[in-house]
Amino acid sequence: MFEAQTIADAGKPEFYRALGQQVDALLDGEHDPIANAANISALLFQLMPDLNWAGFYFMRDGELVLGPFQGKPACVRIAVGKGVCGTAVAKCQSIVVEDVDAFPGHIACDSASRSELVVPLRRGDKVIGVIDLDSPTPGRFDSDDQTGIEGVAQRYLLSIRGGNP
Ligand code: SME
Repeated sequence: MFEAQTIADAGKPEFYRALGQQVDALLDGEHDPIANAANISALLFQLMPDLNWAGFYFMRDGELVLGPFQGKPACVRIAVGKGVCGTAVAKCQSIVVEDVDAFPGHIACDSASRSELVVPLRRGDKVIGVIDLDSPTPGRFDSDDQTGIEGVAQRYLLSIRGGNP
C-alpha cells in the first residue's frame, strides 16, 4: 500500500522536491496512463494545500476531454484555444492565472475557483493533454508551482513510456 506522507512547510522548492519523490514512489513499476494520472490527481489533491480541483485533460480527436481528477464534476470537453486549458494547449506552454475573473474566456467548472495553474503534457512539439489545478484562493500559484508541476508532468510522461492516455 502507498501511504502519502504529509510534507512539512519548508518552502515551495523543498515541497516540490519531496512531492517528486512521492510521485516516483507512487508510479514505480506502473506504466498505465490512466492509472498513473488517477493516482497523481489523488496525490496532488491530498498533499497540496488550498486546492479545490486537481486533474488531467487529454487530447482526443483535436479537443481536450476530461481525464482522471479529484474535486467537483467538471466540464468534459474543451476546444483548443478555449479557456485556460485550451489556451495552454494552443500556446504549448504553462499558464498561471492569479485571478480567473481577469482571464478572458475562463471556463468556470467550480464557482469556488479563484486561481488556476495549467501545465501541458508535451511530447516533442505535440501536446497530449494538460494537468489542471484550481484553488479557491486568489494568487495561489506562482512560478515555483509552475516549475514544480512541470516536473510532475515530466514524471508522468516518463512513467507512461510513450503510451497514449
Ligand atoms: N477552468 C478551466 C476549465 C477546467 S476546470 O477548471 C476543471 C479552463 O478555463 O480551461
